[in-house]
Amino acid sequence: PVLSGLAGRHVLITSGPTHEPIDPVRYIANRSSGRQGHAIAAAFARAGARVTLVSGPVTIPDPAGVDVVHVESAREMLAAIDAALPADVAVMAAAVADWRMAEAQNGKIKKDGSGAVPALALVENPDILATVGRHATLRPRLVVGFAAETSNVVDNARAKLARKGADMILANDVSPERGVMGGDRNTIHLVSGEGVANWPTLSKTEVAERLVAEVARRLQPAK
Ligand code: C5P
Repeated sequence: PVLSGLAGRHVLITSGPTHEPIDPVRYIANRSSGRQGHAIAAAFARAGARVTLVSGPVTIPDPAGVDVVHVESAREMLAAIDAALPADVAVMAAAVADWRMAEAQNGKIKKDGSGAVPALALVENPDILATVGRHATLRPRLVVGFAAETSNVVDNARAKLARKGADMILANDVSPERGVMGGDRNTIHLVSGEGVANWPTLSKTEVAERLVAEVARRLQPAK
C-alpha cells in the first residue's frame, strides 16, 4: 500500500556492519547481518518512498526497488550519506565500528616467530547518526537511530536521543540469550519525545512496517 505521507519522499538508510582494515587481509567489525536495516529499506520502498540504502558488507541481497550504495568502512559510509543528502527521513541502522586503525598497514602484518604481538593503535570513527542528527543545513525532518544494548536499554536510548540529535531511537536488548543478532525477530522499545512505546516481539519485517507507519504519522501536517 502506498501511504500518502511517504510517496516521493527521500529516505536515507544505513545498514550492516562496517569493516575497518587492519592490513590487507584483516579487519575490525561489529556483528550485524543487515537484516533489520534492509527490511526497513524494503518497507519504505513498498510505501512509495524513494530509498537510498548505504550498506556495509553483508551477505543478504539488495532489497528490490531501492538505490543501494555498497561501502566498507565508516568513513566511506559517512561520505556516501553526505553525497545522498538532502533527505526527508534518515534511519541509521548500521552497526558502525566505533574505532578504526590509526594507520592501516599497506602490507600484511607478519608473525615473526618470537611470540611478540602487534599493538593496534585505534582512533574513533565519525558518528554518522550524530552527524546527520546535528547537521547545520541538511538535517532531515526525521532522524531515527537504533540502540543495541545489553543493559539499561531504555535509559541508554534516552541519553542517545539527546546526544545524537535524533527524533526516535529504536532500542533493543541484544544480550546473546535473546537471539536478536542474525535472527529473525526483534523486541523494540521506541524512545522519542512522545515517551516510550514497548512493542511486542515482532519479525524484522514487522518492525520495519511499524517504523514506516510511525514515520508516516509524524510526517503528516498537524490537523
Ligand atoms: O552509540 P551507539 O553505537 O550505540 O549508537 C547506535 C546508533 O548510532 C545506531 O543508530 C547506529 O547506526 C548509529 N551510529 C552511527 N555511527 C557511529 C556509531 C553509531 O551512525 N559511528
